[in-house]
Amino acid sequence: MSPYAHITGWGMAVPTKVLTNADLEKMVETDDAWIQSRTGIRQRHIASEEESTATLAQDAALNALRVANLNPTDIELIIVSTSSPEHAFPATACLVQDRIGAIHAGAFDLSAACSGFIFALNMATQAIRSGSIKNAVVIGAETLSRFVDWEDRNTCILFGDGAGAFVLQAGDEPGGVLSAVMKSDGSGADLLSVPAGGSFMPASAETVLNKQHTIHMNGREVFRFATRVIAQATREAIAIAQLKIEDVQLVIPHQANLRIIEAAMRGLEIPMEQCFINIERYGNTSTASIPIATCEAIQQGRLQSGDNTVFVGFGAGLTWGSALVRWTGPFLPHRHIYPASYRFWVAIRSQLLRLVRRVEGWIWGRNIQ
Ligand code: ACO
Repeated sequence: MSPYAHITGWGMAVPTKVLTNADLEKMVETDDAWIQSRTGIRQRHIASEEESTATLAQDAALNALRVANLNPTDIELIIVSTSSPEHAFPATACLVQDRIGAIHAGAFDLSAACSGFIFALNMATQAIRSGSIKNAVVIGAETLSRFVDWEDRNTCILFGDGAGAFVLQAGDEPGGVLSAVMKSDGSGADLLSVPAGGSFMPASAETVLNKQHTIHMNGREVFRFATRVIAQATREAIAIAQLKIEDVQLVIPHQANLRIIEAAMRGLEIPMEQCFINIERYGNTSTASIPIATCEAIQQGRLQSGDNTVFVGFGAGLTWGSALVRWTGPFLPHRHIYPASYRFWVAIRSQLLRLVRRVEGWIWGRNIQ
């Protein structure tokens, strides 16, 4: 019998620095009332110089492991969904793997913009359901503030930084991720993109001058697309799990724009009280928004063990997706663990491995010459 993929741990991390709408009023021609009425956003968190996608991702992962009562060494798979990776390569997931000490895990990044967390959740679920692994960590992490043109009022008001993570574990009891939908339409690729910095348009002085390394967006078109696909994908995930809309206790949508969410919920005839919203405090954290919202929903008692919840998101690509999850919570602890206490030993281990590599290189390199 295939095991089920239960979500047994969750964690989030956001930078301490907050950028309010009032702060933005001093940077571009905008105002708090416009931003709040058009988007629902009041403030967003912005990474400091010391913070990056990997640091936020590793903090969120350690918090999730603490809830799941698992050690980093128990993890066999790490997927980091991000559109603002630390580098083109290596994968941000590998940096996280090293820094948290997940020495038995394969790690890779997944790029599907704001829908990425749902895609990553589904990939980890399939790995567990196939029986090939037992424990996985799925992370959504972004520092899109590094890709924003802070002179473009159409985009700079929207985005914030942060990370959220889930621990997934195999279990025989029915529950966990019961269905998932993943969709893409590349014909809309130009609606939302960072045009330069890839193989098509490599970085040059000219691309920097023309701000082609920043987010370019056709807001109205993305808005129209989003309201359509959120409702459609929510219905599909519920149908695949052989449930009805009335069976769903909570919808946790991608937090891109309050008006988009309200329009989609109206279409689904789901009251807003059954939909979790925290966009006012974080803005659009892209792929991190669903796990961050989930952490807060649990904190506020909005999500209980046994509840059916739908995660639904959309983003650049174009991509969109959804998942129906019967919420589990942590498995009963059989031991006390302290994932963060690994950090010290993990840092020493990582330095030792680097040293060994240098010594080996010195010995073998000399022999080759
Ligand atoms: N402050 C004040 N006025 C503004 C601002 C601003 N920050 N931005 C635009 N305006 C003006 C425009 O210039 C325009 O003025 P005009 O009529 O004189 O030309 C007017 O406001 C209306 O502009 P619209 O673009 O029609 O405004 P809209 O109501 O569509 O809201 C917004 C814009 C908020 C961007 C909206 O279109 C939206 O949220 N779209 C979806 C964005 C989104 O969800 N992106 C997802 C990203 S997910 C990912 O993958 C990264």
